[in-house]
Amino acid sequence: MRKVILAIDEGTTNVKSLLLDPLGKVIGKGSVPLSISHPSVGLVEQDPLEIIEKMKESIALAVGSIAESVQIEAIAISNQRESVLLWERSTGRPLTQVISWQCRRSESLCEILRQDDVFSRYVQQSTGLTLDPMFPATKVSMALQQIPDGHIRAEKGDICIGTINTWMVWNMTNNVFVTDASNASRTQLYNIGKQVWDDTVLERLGIPNAALPPVVASSHIVGLTREFGVLQQGIPVASQIGDSHAALFGHGGYKTGVVKATYGTGSSVMAAMPTLPSIRNEISTTIAWEDSTLFYGLEGNITHTGSAIDWTRRMLGVESMDAMCQLAAQADIDHSVFFVPALSGLGAPYWDLDATGIFCGLKSATERADLARAAFESVLFQVADVFYMIAEELPEAIECLCVDGGPTLNNWLMQAQCRFTWCSYS
Ligand code: G3P
Repeated sequence: MRKVILAIDEGTTNVKSLLLDPLGKVIGKGSVPLSISHPSVGLVEQDPLEIIEKMKESIALAVGSIAESVQIEAIAISNQRESVLLWERSTGRPLTQVISWQCRRSESLCEILRQDDVFSRYVQQSTGLTLDPMFPATKVSMALQQIPDGHIRAEKGDICIGTINTWMVWNMTNNVFVTDASNASRTQLYNIGKQVWDDTVLERLGIPNAALPPVVASSHIVGLTREFGVLQQGIPVASQIGDSHAALFGHGGYKTGVVKATYGTGSSVMAAMPTLPSIRNEISTTIAWEDSTLFYGLEGNITHTGSAIDWTRRMLGVESMDAMCQLAAQADIDHSVFFVPALSGLGAPYWDLDATGIFCGLKSATERADLARAAFESVLFQVADVFYMIAEELPEAIECLCVDGGPTLNNWLMQAQCRFTWCSYS
């Protein structure tokens, strides 16, 4: 029987499962969509039990997609980062929904904490992350206050706090409670220099250490499966890693000179380095992964890239993305229209939540095609902005910008990204 690795990528919109042969070739796959709810403005949630059921379905689809029987030797997990939930240790019953990384419910708490310069600087130096509702810390603090006796129960170890990888492992195994360094570093509760949960941050936010999982290397056998959908018991769960970090690893980001850009609704531009880089406001510092050695990462999260193109497409009344590409290709290059897609403020490297979007360079000769082209170019400029910021911090010259995500199928866009980024860099 052929031996395979089962890789599960639990993202915000889909759970994907791949079966890989010993040469790393994909021989089977399955993908199942997930629902997202918006209970009110700014709130974004997912159903933890649905995630587990959809995981089972996607694994079954992957296994069912090939004719032969295979032996799953090990399981690897990559996951949407920063989304978090709380559950009861004795029963495994969720105490909250999955509070999505997109959820802004703790904006007011972040604002209060930002007034305290000493604490905000401390958080940034320790965790590598600027106070922002995207990260779990403030959302967990609020969730614990909303659960009756939440703090006391968490202190006694009755409550588990976990990111999605931790929830997946808990459910696939006999309740192993664990996380890896990459996911821990995105909680804003983890001291990335000392590699421990940060007591100062925990105390200020009222989060007991006893409720947090032990942190292990990203590549580490954390436990064996129980019977889980079509999976039999006894299969080692051998790695967990945040999805953006996994993409960088997949591009060979452990070699010097590699930067990667992931294009989606927003974008992540990231590079790894073997030593702790300087902490700066524009981009976050994080743990890229830990296998035999630990790598740090520099990352800029851009809020609107794919969504900026899509917003412009809808405003122009263009039917499809293909039609939008064709329209942009007709633009007159001399018309020089620019779009700043600050549709909900600007993320990295500007972090200006009050910024609003703007088209500039409009003239009477401006056509719809020029606006379409400006939308695509706004993606390139933003990626390049973060790229240059990362370049300033890397000790070695950058040799390549590796790309992934749906928009990379657009040849024109990628050629333009290459031309623009590279010409200005070299
Ligand atoms: O930081 C959030 C990111 O990990 C989400 O990834 O693939 O679910 O959009 P994705």
